[in-house]
Amino acid sequence: MFQLDGKTVVITGAGGGIGRPLVKTFLDAGARVVACDRSPELIADLDVAHKAYFELTDRASIAAAAADILDTVGVPDVLVSNAGFTRGEYFEKVTDALWYQDIEVNLNGVRHFADPIITAMIANGGGTQVFIASVNGFAHFGHPAYSVAKAGLLAYMKAIATEHGRRGIRANAVCPGSVRTDAWNYRIAGEPDLIDRASRYYALQRLVTPQEVANAALFLASPLSSGITGAELPVDAGLTAGNVRFVDDIVRAAVLKD
Ligand SMILES: NC(=O)c1ccc[n+]([C@@H]2O[C@H](COP(=O)([O-])OP(=O)(O)OC[C@H]3O[C@@H](n4cnc5c(N)ncnc54)[C@H](O)[C@@H]3O)[C@@H](O)[C@H]2O)c1
Repeated sequence: MFQLDGKTVVITGAGGGIGRPLVKTFLDAGARVVACDRSPELIADLDVAHKAYFELTDRASIAAAAADILDTVGVPDVLVSNAGFTRGEYFEKVTDALWYQDIEVNLNGVRHFADPIITAMIANGGGTQVFIASVNGFAHFGHPAYSVAKAGLLAYMKAIATEHGRRGIRANAVCPGSVRTDAWNYRIAGEPDLIDRASRYYALQRLVTPQEVANAALFLASPLSSGITGAELPVDAGLTAGNVRFVDDIVRAAVLKD
């Protein structure tokens, strides 16, 4: 029931660290994949049915890419909205420009692309939307504007699920914790031990892999999850289950002292 033979799946941010395993996972499941990214060289090596290009801050390019996909390959069965970006790690670094950019890229831009595709899916009898959101949509782990955008994305996902469920649309979100992709490179360049330090905050004492995010997206796109809509699925190695450092440093340490 993970098979998607003959289904058309559109994946945004296809050339990125999570996008690449998404593409491979959906191809392996038999899907006809449409890969999207901001420019051709980012996905030049991908062997997929069709490619489309847009910049999430440029509404005209988004509308043109959505129209190209609908005209060229027809109405997709699944849209995986994965493209995203963030800077402005904490308030002192969040300029007005960064605030608006993070929200434009991660919320407004995602909606501008999803909306015409979902409208076409409804006219076609239905479809499945999967958002790659973040644990930052649940609670604050830094990146204030990005977190606002991802929380908004979860609300948008639930609105789609609620209003369009009767029209054959399922919408769900995968919410990853930290995933070691190139998105972290600019931080790791100055802090080589960053991943080891971050791992200590996770119940599994490690980050999740891009493949684990892709696996969850496939589940939410496949018939195996046919009864699930409006769900936020953490793929976060237990980060949001509880605070393991609090347990170790405050509770366990205090008990051991007694
Ligand atoms: N890496 C993590 O730790 C992590 C954690 C939680 C959620 N996520 C989410 O997973 C998704 C993928 O992230 P990743 O780690 O693979 O990052 P990445 O930087 O490796 O890939 C991001 C992809 O999105 C595309 N993209 C970025 N800005 C764009 C724009 N303005 N217009 C069009 N496309 C754009 C990039 O070209 C790239 O293909 C994002 O939505 C991100 O918020 C990542």
